[in-house]
Amino acid sequence: MKRLAPSYLPPIALDHRKKTPIYRQLYEWFRSAITSGQLRPGQRVPSTRALCAELKVSRIPVLNAYDQLHAEGYFTTIVGAGTCVATSIPDDALNVHDARVSDTSREVIPRQGPRKMSTRGITLTRQQQQTWLNNLGAFRVSLPALDHFPNREWSKLIARHSRRPAKGIMAYGDAMGYLPFREAIAEYLGASRSVRCAPSQILVTTGSQQGLQLTAQVLLDPNDRVWMEEPGYPGARQAFSTAKAELVPVRVDQEGMDVATMIDRGRNARAVYITPSHQYPMGVTMSASRRMLLLNWAVRTGAWIIEDDYDSEYRFGSRPIPSLQGLDENGKVIYVGTFSKVMFPALRLGYVVVPSDLVPAFSAAREATDIFSSTLYQAVLTDFIREGHFARHLRRMRMLYMERRTALINAIEVEMNGMLEVIGSEAGMHLVALLPNGASDVEIASRAAQNGISAMPLSSCYRKQPRRGGLILGYGGVNAHQIRSGIRTLRPIIESQSAK
Ligand SMILES: Cc1ncc(COP(=O)(O)O)c(C=O)c1O
Repeated sequence: MKRLAPSYLPPIALDHRKKTPIYRQLYEWFRSAITSGQLRPGQRVPSTRALCAELKVSRIPVLNAYDQLHAEGYFTTIVGAGTCVATSIPDDALNVHDARVSDTSREVIPRQGPRKMSTRGITLTRQQQQTWLNNLGAFRVSLPALDHFPNREWSKLIARHSRRPAKGIMAYGDAMGYLPFREAIAEYLGASRSVRCAPSQILVTTGSQQGLQLTAQVLLDPNDRVWMEEPGYPGARQAFSTAKAELVPVRVDQEGMDVATMIDRGRNARAVYITPSHQYPMGVTMSASRRMLLLNWAVRTGAWIIEDDYDSEYRFGSRPIPSLQGLDENGKVIYVGTFSKVMFPALRLGYVVVPSDLVPAFSAAREATDIFSSTLYQAVLTDFIREGHFARHLRRMRMLYMERRTALINAIEVEMNGMLEVIGSEAGMHLVALLPNGASDVEIASRAAQNGISAMPLSSCYRKQPRRGGLILGYGGVNAHQIRSGIRTLRPIIESQSAK
């Protein structure tokens, strides 16, 4: 068995007032830690000298306890490693009847008495099982081209900041984020998204999901009505429903959310959530007239507009559409953005552009939640932006995603025999492929997941079952070969479902 590195040793509590001698207490503690699986076979234990110093006891009882444990086969000495838990503990020493022994990660608390959860907790666990998100295979949505990420430049910058880190990189930081990073973001958003803001309005977040959560915390009370695009982004739905808001779906057509209908019905709305530059998931762009209508309505009614601008850097046919925030003269828009698509999702960096009068509230909410984001990565990304790597990476990815999008559309055309209708492919990193009438997208996505394909069912973006199902297919993280073979894997699954 592979020997484990020295690892965390649970605290040893010795009681000097007890009649049981110290050596015996130590012996019993180790024996029980081994038999219960807290200490694992091969794991290094401290030297007698180190343990004496740690427990502030003399060496004799520790030596006696270790001798006893050696003699009974619990400890062994490995040359070069010192004293370790034996790799073969006698079976009769292990509590083999107890399932907890072999798996230390299982809980040991007996389940007694009432175990009440909040309604929020219950709502969260009621989510549909999403097996299609369990793999990173072809068509996984929101996955960028990780194999084209400039790791060399990135790792150099990480090394630069971590070799001799400034005090500010390692200490507690500002809840709103690292100032040079906020300055870089404000500049970038102004130039590329026509967002109007000062660095003081930028709140750095752990991805846009946290941006939505904080927005919900600051703006919404239970039962407040939030108007949502239908279909729309499930992550936003989750964020607002954990704030116990009442979510009201508004249909999406070729010009984005049907704003006129919403205004007609939405007299007492607290907020509206929209993805105007690239509607998620349908891919349409909100028309200029609807944008103006929405902004005027927000001023009249006092409702907030939560604009999620998650991937508009990737627009293929035309220049990126300016943000709605840039048209807002009255501080009604909360603008949420992310580095998940333009960098990589595990970076967990995003931002909210907060109207200046709300900055103290957002800052306090962040402080109360998790204080602030990792400064190291904020500093590294600041240099990545300032030194031109970011703009270069974006340009390259735009070209690459354009090629991948074309490859996917071609593969669907060639392989699918007209079974799928492609929509929303002018921008971003995904498209929607509508299925033949009657085919269940959840069924298809589940079967695809069993075959290593990650296709998201369109119906998961609806509150009510849509008339026609579809698959949301991401093409950012797949090359042309994987696209073709992924579509070939999907074909028989879709055919068999459509024949039903
Ligand atoms: C509409 C939308 N907003 C935001 C995000 C990104 O979320 P995050 O920044 O938390 O990774 C996604 C990712 O899938 C998305 O589709």
